[in-house]
Amino acid sequence: MSAIIVVDAFWGDSGKGKVAAFLAQKHQAAYSVRAGIGTNAGHSILFADGSEIRTRQLPCGFLHPDTQLRVGSGVAVDPEQFFAELDQLDPSYRLRERTRVDYRCPLILPEYRQREATDVFLQEHGTTASGSGVARAEFALRKARQARDEHVLADYTADVARELNESCLRGETIVVEGSQGTHLSLALSDDYPDCTSDNCTTAAFADDVGLNWRHIAEVCLVVKALPSRVGTGPLPLQLTPAEEDRRDIAEYGVATGRRRRKASGISWPHLETAVLLNGPTQLALTFCDHLDPEVANARHPSALTAPVRCLIDELETRFNIPVTLCDCGVHFENLIEIA
Ligand code: IMP
Ligand code: MG
Repeated sequence: MSAIIVVDAFWGDSGKGKVAAFLAQKHQAAYSVRAGIGTNAGHSILFADGSEIRTRQLPCGFLHPDTQLRVGSGVAVDPEQFFAELDQLDPSYRLRERTRVDYRCPLILPEYRQREATDVFLQEHGTTASGSGVARAEFALRKARQARDEHVLADYTADVARELNESCLRGETIVVEGSQGTHLSLALSDDYPDCTSDNCTTAAFADDVGLNWRHIAEVCLVVKALPSRVGTGPLPLQLTPAEEDRRDIAEYGVATGRRRRKASGISWPHLETAVLLNGPTQLALTFCDHLDPEVANARHPSALTAPVRCLIDELETRFNIPVTLCDCGVHFENLIEIA
């Protein structure tokens, strides 16, 4: 196979990191690559033994020891965050020797984080204040520094775009990990300026890592059974905080600790748009335990309940795309392969 791109259908926080890690491990991916804007999106994976992976800069698909980690040239790199994650994860996963960022990545300077944190407009619109949006703006103005200009990154740069395309030409599998969600896309969201600083679609992620489109073999669209949204902007079918608490499904963000607003179910028009824009070949249905607490902690397809099976059937019938993965709990082990 060639490239598998993992994309979120709604407003993010759907478990893309977990899905990307699963796919990279399953296919023994040659490369696990981070696409997206920068360090604004947090990805986390919790394991049943209590260990966890939390990243904002690095991709999550490194469970297979031979998989190389890369950050695409369109992704802003914050050297502080990059080294903090390497320090934290290297002892368990031996990441230093297999991690590289594209030498053309724009850098996030501490001052960029500060600018977002003190920008009243961005704050009102829920920015994560990671500095990623300012880095993109400075890059567009040709004023950003790049990874190749930063001496502390000297041992960690590569021509990632070339590596990935050559790997695909050899017939290897690479997993491209998108960030955020389709409906937060800068130029495709209906909610501008309640959106992020770039598009968050299949094509945008391919571009972020410099991938030749001919190498895209699979697009896995991650569909959160009860979608959520942080920051401002409309969320169809939004639950009240009291209802979330009653159902014990309240969620807090990895990157910012903010409480996420949650919906009672899928907005079909939004999903139809996400399918139209992203061209998925498979769907991963996540947070099924929030749809039906009966499936919580399931590890086998036989444990899926009628409400979950019903939603899977509806997705497959409406879009004629197979649901291949079903996530039933907080742990990595609760991601179940069903097709
Ligand atoms: P920024 O990209 O950090 O400026 O954030 C812009 C908007 O995108 C805000 O509403 C954020 O809450 C939202 N956003 C940014 N990153 C994420 C993410 O990883 N998950 C969900 N929402 C995000
Ligand atoms: Mg981009």
